[in-house]
This record gives sequence, C-alpha cells and structure tokens, in this order.
Amino acid sequence: MKILYSFLFPVIFLTLVTTFTFGASTSPRQRLLMDFGWKFSLTDTVGAEKPAFNDNKWRTLNLPHDWSIESEFKADAKTGGGGGYLSTGIGWYRKHFSVSKTEGKNIRIEFDGVYQNSDVWINGNHLGNYPNGYMSFSYNLTPFIKKGDNIVTVRVNNSLQPNSRWYSGSGIYRHVWLNITEPMHIEQWGTYITTPLADLESAVIKIKTQIENNNAVSKSALLRSIILDAKGKEVCRTESSLKVLSGKSAKSEHTLLLSMPSLWSLETPTMYTLHSVVLDKGKIVDEINTAFGIRDIKFDVDKGFLLNGKQVKMNGVCLHHDGGSVGAAVPEAMWERRLQTLKAMGCNAIRTSHNPVAPEFLDLCDRMGFLVQNEVFDEWKSGKVMYGYHLYFDKWSQFDLTGFIRRDRNHPSVVMWSAGNEIGEQRQDNGQEKLRPLIETFHKEDPTRPVTTGNDNIAADDGAARLPFLKMLDIVGYNYVDRWHDRRELYYSIDRLAHPDWTMVGTESVSIPGVRGSYYTSGDSSMIRPANMASVVRAEQLWKFVSNHNYVIGDFMWTGIDYLGESKWPGKNASSGIIDLCGFPKDGYYFYQSQWTIKPMIHIAPHWNWKGREGTVIPVLVYTNCDDVELFLNGKSFGVKALAFPRQGNSGGWNKYDKPQVDITTGDLHLGWDVPYEAGILKAVGRREGKIVYTEVLHTTGAAASIRLSVDRNEISADQRDVAHVKVEVFDANGFIVPDAGNLIQLAVTGAGSLIGFDNGNPVDHSSMKISQRNMFNGLALAIIQSTEKHGNIKISATSPNLKAASIEIKTIECVSPVALVEN
Ligand code: GAL
Repeated sequence: MKILYSFLFPVIFLTLVTTFTFGASTSPRQRLLMDFGWKFSLTDTVGAEKPAFNDNKWRTLNLPHDWSIESEFKADAKTGGGGGYLSTGIGWYRKHFSVSKTEGKNIRIEFDGVYQNSDVWINGNHLGNYPNGYMSFSYNLTPFIKKGDNIVTVRVNNSLQPNSRWYSGSGIYRHVWLNITEPMHIEQWGTYITTPLADLESAVIKIKTQIENNNAVSKSALLRSIILDAKGKEVCRTESSLKVLSGKSAKSEHTLLLSMPSLWSLETPTMYTLHSVVLDKGKIVDEINTAFGIRDIKFDVDKGFLLNGKQVKMNGVCLHHDGGSVGAAVPEAMWERRLQTLKAMGCNAIRTSHNPVAPEFLDLCDRMGFLVQNEVFDEWKSGKVMYGYHLYFDKWSQFDLTGFIRRDRNHPSVVMWSAGNEIGEQRQDNGQEKLRPLIETFHKEDPTRPVTTGNDNIAADDGAARLPFLKMLDIVGYNYVDRWHDRRELYYSIDRLAHPDWTMVGTESVSIPGVRGSYYTSGDSSMIRPANMASVVRAEQLWKFVSNHNYVIGDFMWTGIDYLGESKWPGKNASSGIIDLCGFPKDGYYFYQSQWTIKPMIHIAPHWNWKGREGTVIPVLVYTNCDDVELFLNGKSFGVKALAFPRQGNSGGWNKYDKPQVDITTGDLHLGWDVPYEAGILKAVGRREGKIVYTEVLHTTGAAASIRLSVDRNEISADQRDVAHVKVEVFDANGFIVPDAGNLIQLAVTGAGSLIGFDNGNPVDHSSMKISQRNMFNGLALAIIQSTEKHGNIKISATSPNLKAASIEIKTIECVSPVALVEN
C-alpha cells in the first residue's frame, strides 16, 4: 500500500514525465504508473512479442482495460451465463517506454491483475506465464532492460471457456507499475506491520522488513522505521543494522511503543504510515511508505468479533469485482461511491467473493472503515467449471496464496482470511489434507488473523461437510446456514450445542434479490406485490436470530451489488444484490438500513403509478426504524402500525419500561397495509416516542416532461482515471420524478472528459453499455464520465424525444499529489 499514490485525491500532472518521490526529493526508489499509451489487438498475432513487430495499426488505449465489456451480449457466447454472455478470446498488448538510467538499478514490472493466463516479454525476452487472473504479480526486468527505448509485450489468453462462474473480464484490467530501486532495497510486499497490543493508552508496533541485496558484495544495511501519524507528523522511530549477504535477503525486526495512539475503528478509521528507510554507509538506498492502522481484533467463541475491545456484529455483504458498465476495469471512484452507498445502509463488512481484489479496493476499505473477509479461491483441486482454477491449483496455489497474504496483510480493514468458497474438498474424505497446507501458509505468513472457508454443505443430506475439515478452520463459515432441515429456524444453534468451541460466521446468506423498481403480479393479475416476499421473510428471520446471538460473528449477504454473469439468458447479470448494477438501491437495501442504522428513515414500496388499477388493492410495504408509522392516501389514514425489534423488556420494576411502550402490530420487520389504489399522494409518517421524526411521500406522476441530470462530484481530477457519476431522471409537468420512466436518452459529452459507461440496471437489456444512447429503466439511468489529462470543463447534455433537454457541467482540476508516470 503506497498511500502517497491515490487517484481518489486530486493529483497534479506537471508534465507527462514526472518523478515521484517518497518524502525526500532524492529518493532512490521510483514507482511509476505504466497505464497510458498501450497498443492493443484482439487477434492472436504471431511474432507480436518481437521488438521490431509493427503495431502501428493496433488500437491505442489506456489501462485498466477490459475487452470483454466492449463485446456484444450474445445468447450463444462461449462464456455462457457465467461470463454474462460476453466474449473473451486472446488479446495482445504492447507498450513502449523509456528508462533514463539503468546501470546499477533493479527494475521490476508489477501487474495488479491480468485476466488471465498472461505471458509477458521485455524486449523480446519471455519473462513468464501466469495463469491466475486476479492476483498481482511481478517480473524482474533488470537483466533485459536498457537505457532508452524498451518494449513490454503481454499476451492474454482468456480463450478457454468456461473458466469462471461469474463475469471475469479479459485483459490488463488493473494498473501496471514500474518499480525502480537500488540493488539493495526492501522486497516487494516486504514490510509486515502488526500491533500486538493496542488500546487508547499505548500501542506496540511490530515491524518485519525483508531487505534484498543484489549487489556483488555483502552489505551492512541500516534500517530506519519512522512512524507518521495521519497528518504526516513523526510520532516515533527506531533503527538497527543488519548484514545482507550478496544475492540474498535478510529480515529485520523492529518494535516500537507509541503512547496515546488513535485507534483504527469503523467510525474513525485513522491510518498511520510506516516510513522505512534503508541506508548503506550513511547514504539512503531505499525508502518506502506503508499505510497501516492501529487496532485490536479478537474473535471470541461467546462474544463473536471484538474491535478494540468492543463487540461488533459483522453486518456484511459479499461483493464480486466488476463495476457493471465498465466491466472489470473499475475506476477507484466507482468503488468509493458503491462503498458509500453500502455504508449509508449500515453495512460494515465486505466479503471479497471469491478472489483477490484490486489493491486500491482494500485501501478504500481502510480509509472508509469497513471490515474485510479477504477471500482467495473459488476452487481448489476439485473443479466447478471446465477450465477453472483446479487446473492450476497443484502448481500455483501456494505461490498465489503467499503473494495474496503478503500483499494484503498490512490493511487494518482485513480482519479475517477465507481460503475458499464452497470448496468441493469440504465433503471429501481427507479433504482436510487439502486445507492443511493452505491454513499453514496463512498462519505462517500472518499469525494475527483467523482463517475460514465458506461451506455450503454443513448438514447437507447428499454428502455433508466433514468434521475434520470444519474442525481445522479457525472460524467455521456457513454459506446459507438456513438451508437444511431444522436449521431453517434453528440456524447456528444446533452446531453451537454440539461444538461449543466453534467460532461461527455466516460467510454467505440470502439477501433480498430482485429487479430494482419491478413489482410482479401474483395469481390475481390485479395484485401488485413488493418483489420477492419469500426472501424478505427469510432475511428478517435470519437477522432476528443473528442480532440476538452474540456468538454469531455476523452474516455476509449474497450480494451487496448485482454483478455481471451468473445469469440465465435473457439475463446478463445476477440480480441477487440489494443494489443494482448501476449502484442504485433496490427495496431490499432499505430493509437492512432499517435494521442497521439509527437515523430515522422510512422506505415505501412500490411506487404509486398504477394507472388502470384504480380500486384494486395494492399491498404497501414499509421499512422503517421509527417506533411507529401512520400511512395516508390522499389525506385518509390507513392506521398506525408498529414493529418493535428487539422488544423492550421490563426495566426498573414490573411493567416499567425505559421508553414509552410501542403498540406492536406485527412480528415482521416490515409494516404492511392493503391500500385500494387511487392516484394521488401516499404518505408515511414516522414517530419516535410520540414525535414525528420522518415523513416519506410518494406522488402519482403524470407523463415524463423533462430530463434531470445530477452528479455526485462537481470536480474531478484531470488524471485520465477519475470519474463522476451522472444520474439521469425525468420529471413530470409538476416537477415530480417519474419512477417508472423508460425514455430513450441520448447523451452528448464534450470537453475534458468522455463517457466510459452508460447503464440502467436492467438485467435483460442487451444494448451496449459503452454507447451514448440508452433507455431509462424504472426511472433511472447512470452515466460514468471519466476525465482526460486536460484541465477544464466537461459538458454532459441529455436529450430525448418529447422531453425538455438537460445539461450539466463538471470541472476537471489539477491534482495535488502527483503520480509519476513511466517515460514514453
Ligand atoms: C452460492 C455461491 C455464490 C453464488 C451464489 C448464487 O452458493 O457461493 O458464488 O454462486 O451461490 O446464488
């Protein structure tokens, strides 16, 4: 984690070729972003790795790049439903770059993620093949690199299909870096920071640093560890020397004591920085910054998870890695918006299902205060899809796993590891022998965090997960704990009784899936139903149990956000999220918000545009955290209803209560009214202790009359990466937002930015998400606008037949902390 680099903060590009330094202007380490100006061809080309190959006709593009999302959705695509019916294939990338000094330098190229089966060459020399599509990997370029022009060539082979159960994307879909160091330097992922003791009074900070010496002679190095607080002020330091033999690496261990630390927590996720400096005979030969947090985590058999001594229930969601319309090449600002939306729901934990995520995703979780269950594999040796990871498991799993742990172990947000999801070996004789070496590696590389797996077969009739397997886990992970027999009501309690020493978490549980804004008619065609009542009931039951049983660490819902793939034609994406592909909340989102947040809220479903159904009953559903809610239609009350969960108990004596008692009208965690439809105003008024604290109003609207554009950020960085999210809605003639609009919108983007994605969240809309024309879906559409390197304005205009047009401007501004780019 290099905290000085961030696309989320404004960045200044002084010139295209800048030198980035870690503190001192003479820093011997350079970390250069290599994202811009690549050549690309989607044909398997013979000889393209040769430096002299002519790539003039190839397309020029910037990374991160995902070519699958540029393809058409086709029912007969080789990827099938797993890959969202998009195409894959073999693609080549070439990048010319220049290095001004190579003598006495060590140079590595680092890929944050390439899907998949990549081969990399430098100046025609083959560096290696790497099958894993999600893990970061790097190559030593030192023996092959020369002063002046060099060329890196990458062949990406995603042609073996199917190889994934969800949309993977294809290509170099994450960042690429060039790291230039002196021969003696800190290894890649070579710092490991833990805080074995952390409370409000003091913290013990332990640092392990691995130093590599590629000089021809052995060296005596001085390592200095300096801790900086969130403002960059030094708070403590230590140093020691160590001998590093020629061609070898050596480990140094430092322990620092810090008084009155600011602890990392979900509410105040304070980050510190370790500034590591390596000196050779008084001269600085390396320095690097590593972000970390000071926090205490404990997993307790009875109390569940404790953060800084305080019990925290993990109100979690599972997330896949794609970003909808941008495919797998997701700008950080898109994840930031998505995580903000989840945070506003009260979500505090993410399971990174089912693969290593982009490094910057974990940086965001650190900064925004999320707990992460960091998962590495979906398959071990036992396969799920024909060309899945099982083909590579024997050869690569230990290499991939070690890199994964070392890369991610300094993130305070990461509080537990998952070795795999629904792994076939859970139900095999001796399956634990496949688990054992993985757990051993986790424990060796990071003894501070427990390891789980997401097990879907605990108590399964057709081959239950084996006890030796489950017993080997630090935490037993349940996928769909309510799946079998009496577990539908008793959940974890059966195993709690049988295995009181187990720590338990719901690695995956049902959420409230559905299509945003769509309401089905059930049986009687005049009936409108809030979508998916069966899941509502299941989610409510599960939460009632989990929230009242401390020993359950929490649950991770499948899923937080819809994701491409894992669908059945005509669907192109899974609709299991409580947020759609564009990041717009669905009704189910508000169920969790009602249970996980305190700020008064009310959500009403469905919308109130039901022309033609006058007089027929519409079940109205309300999620709320108010004490009670009264529903009115056109001023007429349909009565006050209340849920109280958990119920109040007597306190201070028989029949005495802390707060005025609420007249409970339901055991559900939602309220419902049967309301004969009549156009007008549906209003829900929420009270707490008798006082109105929240009012929610729905209007029946007329036809769409004008377009409204709104943007999440008026200013973005001119760094060719930052994005703004433009929401498209339409008003009726009275200025009310039309919730069921499906108008065709034409966008025009001019100035210092471009459109990189345009979507509406409709799972069966097969039109390209890369073009500027799209129908709205249930009242919404979302455009992703990306900056160029130019400072200036971006103008976005939207037109539609018969609607008043709209436009909006976004400013692109200079950045304050420059990211160094590789020389072209
Ligand atoms: C789970 C699995 C997920 C996803 C989900 C779909 O069993 O772990 O990856 O496939 O089912 O419902």
